[in-house]
Amino acid sequence: MTSIHFSLSPFFSLNLNAPPRHHHHHRRLTLTLKVQATSSTTQTMGQESTNAAPAHGEFKLVGYKNFVRANPNSDRFPVHRFHHVEFWCGDATNTARRFSWGLGMPLVAKSDLSTGNSAHASYLLRSGELSFLFTAPYPPSLSDPSSAAIPTFSFSAHRAFTSSHGLAVRAVAIQVESAFSAHSASVSRGAKPVSPPVLLSDGKTAIAEVHLYGDAVLRYVSCGDDGWFLPEFEAVDSGIYCQELDYGIRRLDHAVGNVPKLEPVVDYLKKFTGFHEFAEFTAEDVGTAESGLNSVVLANNNEDVLFPLNEPVFGTKRKSQIQTYLEHNEGAGVQHLALVSEDIFRTLREMRKRSLVGGFEFMPSPPPTYYRKLKSRAGDVLSDEQIEECEKLGILVDRDDQGTLLQIFTKPVGDRPTMFIEIIQRIGCMMKDKEGKIYQKGGCGGFGKGNFSELFKSIEGYEKMLEAKVVGKTATA
Ligand SMILES: [Fe+2]
Repeated sequence: MTSIHFSLSPFFSLNLNAPPRHHHHHRRLTLTLKVQATSSTTQTMGQESTNAAPAHGEFKLVGYKNFVRANPNSDRFPVHRFHHVEFWCGDATNTARRFSWGLGMPLVAKSDLSTGNSAHASYLLRSGELSFLFTAPYPPSLSDPSSAAIPTFSFSAHRAFTSSHGLAVRAVAIQVESAFSAHSASVSRGAKPVSPPVLLSDGKTAIAEVHLYGDAVLRYVSCGDDGWFLPEFEAVDSGIYCQELDYGIRRLDHAVGNVPKLEPVVDYLKKFTGFHEFAEFTAEDVGTAESGLNSVVLANNNEDVLFPLNEPVFGTKRKSQIQTYLEHNEGAGVQHLALVSEDIFRTLREMRKRSLVGGFEFMPSPPPTYYRKLKSRAGDVLSDEQIEECEKLGILVDRDDQGTLLQIFTKPVGDRPTMFIEIIQRIGCMMKDKEGKIYQKGGCGGFGKGNFSELFKSIEGYEKMLEAKVVGKTATA
């Protein structure tokens, strides 16, 4: 029997036989929400449970089944949303163009030699609210450091970072009420300062940084209402073609970190941000030790800034993929970025068209047995047509107590088996805010925990089916 390598990165890998996948163009299907919007004017988020979250310093994984949802609204400073993600790379022009084409994110702004920045070349891609920034240094000997558009930029840090990690996320930026007060509140509660707050040239925008994990930083950005990015950046008119580059990706849902040990990192981040545990699961939850990871998700008050963290688990048959990441990344770092699509079918069709011509490739799709069971797992939320579309595009489906998650993972995006991208769409949990505006509750549908066991079961079922076929053939031969 020939076999192909199957892997739901970062969770597990298996070998299985699978038929070739076929990709056609399909008509657009919009996910209709079967869950009615419910008024939450009297029910603020997190009041599902009256149990208080464990106090800081009481870190202990209880696993998914025993985990009780609670939102203590314990943020130490006002957090608005994810602002941008900055990648440090050897050459920003080429990296930015690859991501632009692969994800459907036009180049919207730049700061480089052409705009008077002799310290670093930075290019900003944007799709909806999602902003990706790519930065590479110019030779320090030719640079005026005061011309840097990002005042926290450091030649020596960049050089050490890229030689150690390759292409990786340097900064996860969140928009806060005030970068000054967020930074001082954080540092007073144990955050390791990386860059003190700096007021930018517009007199309104401010930036500060504290240590996140590994060599990644948590960047605080505060800006006025009209602040479209950072003042030193120049808007780029990238032409009609580039303006139409849009595959439906709209915002960052979660930024996941891989760390050697969860406990110190979770304690460190909880203590200075005040973020609470939104969800967690351990290797045992998955019904198998093969996943090789424990996971905790930290969330802000609104639960739309989500920081999942993974640690490797040892003693399993296969080496933990988290451990593989840590070795190839030379330490902790951002493992994946989950991007929300407004229409995951459209996004996947567009991305798959470009997989082998400059875009991103995806992990192998699950076997047909996975999709045969999907009707009973999600038939009340997805139509038959939508389930069929999921199968054609290799999309995975999972649910939690609140909603449904559609997800798919790319292969690692760079040279090393480290960072990758997840595309998701969440269904359900529609709420009304005080002004009557409908919004979707953060993290609705979870993070894909259920796909561990579902994929294992479907792969086992598929292998049995194939074995039966081979036995049948041998018997008739
Ligand atoms: Fe994820």
